[in-house]
Amino acid sequence: MLLLCIESSCDETAAAVVRDGREVLSNIIASQVDVHARFGGVVPEIASRKHVEAISLVVREALTAAGTSLDQIEGIGVTRGPGLIGALLVGLSTARALAWARQLPLAAIHHMEGHILAPLLETELEFPFLALAVSGGHTHLYRVDGIGQYTTLGQTRDDASGEAYDKVAKLLGLGYPGGAKIDQLAAEGDPTAISFPRPMLHKPGFEFSFSGIKSAVNRYVEQQSEPVTGTHLADLAASFQAAVVDVLTAKTVAAAKAEGLSRIVVAGGVACNRGLRERFAQLAEKHALQVVFPSPSLCGDNAAMLGVPADYYLSSGQASGGDVNAVASWPLDTVGSGAL
Ligand code: KG4
Ligand code: ZN
Repeated sequence: MLLLCIESSCDETAAAVVRDGREVLSNIIASQVDVHARFGGVVPEIASRKHVEAISLVVREALTAAGTSLDQIEGIGVTRGPGLIGALLVGLSTARALAWARQLPLAAIHHMEGHILAPLLETELEFPFLALAVSGGHTHLYRVDGIGQYTTLGQTRDDASGEAYDKVAKLLGLGYPGGAKIDQLAAEGDPTAISFPRPMLHKPGFEFSFSGIKSAVNRYVEQQSEPVTGTHLADLAASFQAAVVDVLTAKTVAAAKAEGLSRIVVAGGVACNRGLRERFAQLAEKHALQVVFPSPSLCGDNAAMLGVPADYYLSSGQASGGDVNAVASWPLDTVGSGAL
């Protein structure tokens, strides 16, 4: 099937054309990051308005870049949730309107389902596998037994890992979004320079907590007599990143062992992180695990990732109704049980 996919859950307006849930013919992303940067975070109302401005152009560009037109499109995939409700509604309304006007089947997809299946656009990967989903809104460990078969093994009790990166970057004056900036600085710093806590590391189970690390960084900065800059800043970034990476990797490897899984997918915006990729590469060798990361262009928010589940659902006759609504929160475990 040739699918047009649309994503607008947060601050990226994205559209893609994907063939057979595998071949990405175009993947267009219009980021609003610059607009939100001066507010230090995403402003929902502004995000919705910017999506409205961009959506038609982005869809048209995706079709043009794929060398196709709506006449050739056989179905539509779209993010239904979770995310900012006003932002989601822009993409979903566009998808519903196109599906209705063109009489095309519609698949309304869980945003995280897209993220964790993104590697299937690039690699052969067998089920079952463990997925670590790390983004601005999620830090979840899922057991994935197939498309539509997800079990949450653990999640964060407070901040998501990406949120912790963004909050720490903000308090260090690095701007928004800060994940990539901290990652860059960390590469030049000493990860053992400052000892930050590793919350939940030695507790049984697969829950995470990142607000404690963020508060520890805040306390550390407040205790300094001078602003943290230069090498000191790089050391702080590296030490913060080491704490986050330690917890994420240790819990993931423990979950893989507990579930008897040897394949791991790491997905979402934080999966771009170089420190996380390096540590997982070492652990993969040590524990004989296959750890798969999507390419950086498929880690952050994009529409191509929706092509994998949308193709599966539409090919197996599971289309969403034309009246499907957006949902701000939506547990992934309920996907595939008639909730589509
Ligand atoms: O998946 P995503 O693009 O959007 C959400 O669904 O939230 O993830 C965005 C998050 C932001 O918190 C951003 O700071 C973080 O991913 N991020 C990173 C890196 N690149 C993006 N965090 C750490 N290291 C990076 N290199
Ligand atoms: Zn995302």
